Parts: sequence; structure tokens; C-alpha cells
Amino acid sequence: MRFFSIKQASCVKGEILLLGDKSIACRSIIISAISCGKTTVENFPPSRDCLGTVKTFKKLGIKITQNQDLKTITVFGNGLYGLEKAKGPISVGDSGTTLRLTLGVLAGQDFPVTLIAGKSLSQRPMRRVTVPLRMMGAEICARHKPKTKNLTPNTKLEEYPPITIKGGRLNPIIYRIPVASAQVKSAILLAGLYAKGKTRVIEPVKTRDHTERMLRLFKADIKVKQNTIVIKGRKELVSPGRIFIPGDISSASFFMVLGTILPDSRILIKKVNLNPYRMGIINVLKKMGADIQVLGNSTVGFEPSGDIVIKSSKLKNTIIKKGEIPSLIDELPILMVAACFAKGKSIFEGVSELRVKETDRIRSMSENLKKMGADIRIIKTLKSEKIIIQGG
Ligand code: S3P
Repeated sequence: MRFFSIKQASCVKGEILLLGDKSIACRSIIISAISCGKTTVENFPPSRDCLGTVKTFKKLGIKITQNQDLKTITVFGNGLYGLEKAKGPISVGDSGTTLRLTLGVLAGQDFPVTLIAGKSLSQRPMRRVTVPLRMMGAEICARHKPKTKNLTPNTKLEEYPPITIKGGRLNPIIYRIPVASAQVKSAILLAGLYAKGKTRVIEPVKTRDHTERMLRLFKADIKVKQNTIVIKGRKELVSPGRIFIPGDISSASFFMVLGTILPDSRILIKKVNLNPYRMGIINVLKKMGADIQVLGNSTVGFEPSGDIVIKSSKLKNTIIKKGEIPSLIDELPILMVAACFAKGKSIFEGVSELRVKETDRIRSMSENLKKMGADIRIIKTLKSEKIIIQGG
């Protein structure tokens, strides 16, 4: 374990430019790999998860080159059917996006591939993707482990990595996704590229639409109407040549809360991704009284982006409803910190998905914030879970 000593700052002032968004970065490698033509990806974040996606597709036979700083990546796409069988199992590390989205692509390949995962991803549920991909015709074999200790003959078994998948001729499906998840939606849409006919996915709540936007950029036949997405398969994707990845709003969220709760602060964050389904953090902080301004929200290419100015302010309590959770799923931990600094009682409803992320985010945040003196209660019912934070 490494130890860090942190001194309290009295204020923060300045301007930052963040690395590209992780979700968009993973998709840029996957979709470029199965398109026709060369794609240069700029402002790529050289983080372990994103480099894991690069490594995965190199193992599947795709030529990918990187600049010395690893922030510009060139992918030599081989078309929908240009992947090659890997020599052995592929390790995707702990990136859920890489694993679940790659399963979607592999569902369309007529050779078997085994994907293995790191320690934390190996504990995360995969039935949410294996069920629809099997319905489409993929053969999948995953590790089973009981979801619950109270086993009954009817207990459904969850599935975990390692996962071996062999795809081939896929059928289109109509699928109503039971949990709001952009990873599940994306896996089905990518598999839909290989199905004969139209695959229809219906989301319970809209989630980040990076896959839909990027597939459109690569000339896929995709249509979106409210919560329903329809994709027509067996049409080759065409590379746009170059992609610029705007800054990661999840990384920006830490600076938004920092600039808000520290007195005399002002932070300008440049070129941040402003995908409408990722804006929950900004909306909630504004509702709490934060002084956050979004400047020049414009769509250049395929994703909206703009600058954000944050100034110190006094926060008040808030209630976050279940339907808002997907738009701030990765920002809930830092919003819990904001709630600790707000006047009054904040309530975050319908948060159970946080239990199955890279860590159990409810447990890690509440345990550690409590150690620092926070007043946090978790209320769990059979169907749902909520967090109550008494601020101040
Ligand atoms: C992601 C979707 C979210 C998010 C994750 C990245 C994506 O997960 O928490 O960090 O890239 O699509 P779920 O789809 O499981 O909600």
C-alpha cells in the first residue's frame, strides 16, 4: 500500500484541460477496429482501462499504433469481419466497458475467444450481457457463482468472467433492458451490427448515448426514438478518419466539487464532454446552489463539448431520484462529498447499481466518509437502496 499525505488547500484558482473521456475512448478503439479505413484518435486517455481496450484489439489482430505520449492512437480498421482469433485467452484487466462491449463484437465472430478479467471485474455480474447475446445466437460459457448464500433450487445463478464466447450467425432481437446500463445497451447494439435485420433495444431510462453517436459517425444504419434504438446489421462501417475525444466529465466532477466547497476559488475546465446523458452532476450541483457556468456548449464532430467555470458557493441539501441516477452514476461518490458540505439532509434514491461497480461504491464511500466524521445512513429495502446524508 502507498501512503499519501494531503495538506488542506485554502483555495484553488486556475485553468485545466482534462484527458479524453474514458467511455468514448474505449468505444473509439472498438468501433474503429471493426470499421473500414484508418482512424486517428486524439486526446486519448492513456489510462489502464483504455490501454486495456487497445491491447484487447491488438490481440484480435488489429494493427494499432501509438504516439510516444500514448495520447494519439491510430487504428487500422479491418471491417466488420476482419478480426482474427487470438492465440490464447485475452486479459481485459478491470475495465467493464472493454469487457461488455467487446463481448458484443465477439458475438458476431465465428471463432471462440476467452476473456479473462482482473480481480475486481471478476466479481461483477455479467448475465445482463450474456442473456441478450445468447438470445441473438452466441454460445457463451461463463463462470458461475451463487448470487446469494441462501441457495434454493430456483436460485438463478449469476455469471462472472472468465467468459468464453463463440458467435457467428446472429439473429436480430427486440430487447427491453431490465437495468439502465449503457454497457449492456452498447453490447447489444454492437452485436446488432452482425445480425441479419433490425435489432431493437429499449432502455428503461436513457443512458449515455456515446455508442449511438459514434456508430452514426461511422455511417451505421441506426435510429433513435426516445428510449428505443434500432440498428440494422451487416452494413460495413466507414471510418471518419479522425476523432477528437473531449475531456472526461467524470474527472471534471472532482474539480467541480472542489471549486464549489473551497472558499475564494475559481476553476475553468476546458473542452469537457457535455453529453446530455452525463450532465446529472452539473444539474444536481446547480440545484444545490453551486455557481457553475457552462460556456459554449457546441457539437463539433459527434459529441457536444464546452468549457465549465466553477466558483465557490454555499451548498444546500438535495434529493436525487432514481431516474436521475444513470446520468450521474460515476459521479455519485463525489456528490456524496458535496452533500456532506451542504446545509440540511440530502437523499439519494435508487442507488443499488453502485454496489456492482469497480468497488462497492456505497460501502467504500460511506465507511470512509464516516471515518472523517460524516453523518451517513444507508436504508436498504428488498427492492431498492437509498443514501441519507446530514450535511454541514
Ligand atoms: C459506462 C457505463 C456505466 C458507467 C461506466 C462506464 C460506459 O456503467 O458506470 O463507468 O462506458 O458505457 P453501466 O452501463 O454498468 O451503468
